[in-house]
Amino acid sequence: MHLGLKDSKVIVTGGASHIGRAIVLALAAEGANVAIVDIDKAQAERTAERARARGAADAHVVAADLTDLDAAERACQEAMQRLDGISTLISNAGANRPDFFLKLDPKGWRRTLDLNLTAVMCCTRAVLPAMIDGGGGAIVATASTAALGEQRQSVYAAAKAGVVAFVRTIALEYGRHGVRANCVSPGLTLPEDAESLGAQSLWNDRDAVMNDAQTDYVVKATPLRRLSRPEDIARSVVFLASPVAARQITGQTITVAGGFAMR
Ligand SMILES: NC(=O)c1ccc[n+]([C@@H]2O[C@H](COP(=O)([O-])OP(=O)(O)OC[C@H]3O[C@@H](n4cnc5c(N)ncnc54)[C@H](O)[C@@H]3O)[C@@H](O)[C@H]2O)c1
Repeated sequence: MHLGLKDSKVIVTGGASHIGRAIVLALAAEGANVAIVDIDKAQAERTAERARARGAADAHVVAADLTDLDAAERACQEAMQRLDGISTLISNAGANRPDFFLKLDPKGWRRTLDLNLTAVMCCTRAVLPAMIDGGGGAIVATASTAALGEQRQSVYAAAKAGVVAFVRTIALEYGRHGVRANCVSPGLTLPEDAESLGAQSLWNDRDAVMNDAQTDYVVKATPLRRLSRPEDIARSVVFLASPVAARQITGQTITVAGGFAMR
């Protein structure tokens, strides 16, 4: 099927490493023009080079710390300038160092909320007027199965549940302007190789995120008995970004977790 993404103008936040990188490369294979907004400039440049080789109409890098909300707004404006417009925003940047609630430092709550939730709002606010002026567009945010509640993920879970509610509300408010807004909700998705990880990826310290025993537990609790791969998430994002395949889909969350979560 022709997905209608060739020459589309797409911002991917957190597009340098792992899941975001897979999203960028999947969009590149469709001939999209991609702007990676990421804190890790060096890894973003490497991913952009790969994207061009993969067939991207072009690939740009805008370095920004999205927990700085003014910087997030500026970065999206710069990305739209480089793309010469906007068709799609993929709000993918996010991170969490799991621990039980009482072990989390309240000073860290704000950073978790800012990166995982408030930055999604900032980027949406930056692109929506241009989407409306242009007759519409697509927003896809990376949520998480943690949004349903998961041990050691309290503040992150709250942020991701907030993302799902926020995106649904954007779908309700701006559908009449042709803007579709959806989420992809990954389950545990391990990186496949070191090349896909930049210095800022959470997965450089894998055991701090999910050790082998915890990973085994997730596999056993997953009906398909396997973990998601970054490409699995990327394909669902591309589907929802497509104005052809997902033309009539808005306000939805697709869970990509092998059945680990079924809501
Ligand atoms: N990997 C999983 O198991 C999993 C599961 C559920 C949801 N998710 C979600 O998927 C998304 C991608 O996660 P991932 O596993 O690829 O993470 P990752 O840590 O490997 O990559 C995150 C990307 O965001 C960038 N980034 C980090 N902090 C940033 C900041 N302050 N400003 C701008 N960019 C920043 C990093 O440089 C990196 O490119 C996140 O929203 C995450 O919450 C991941």
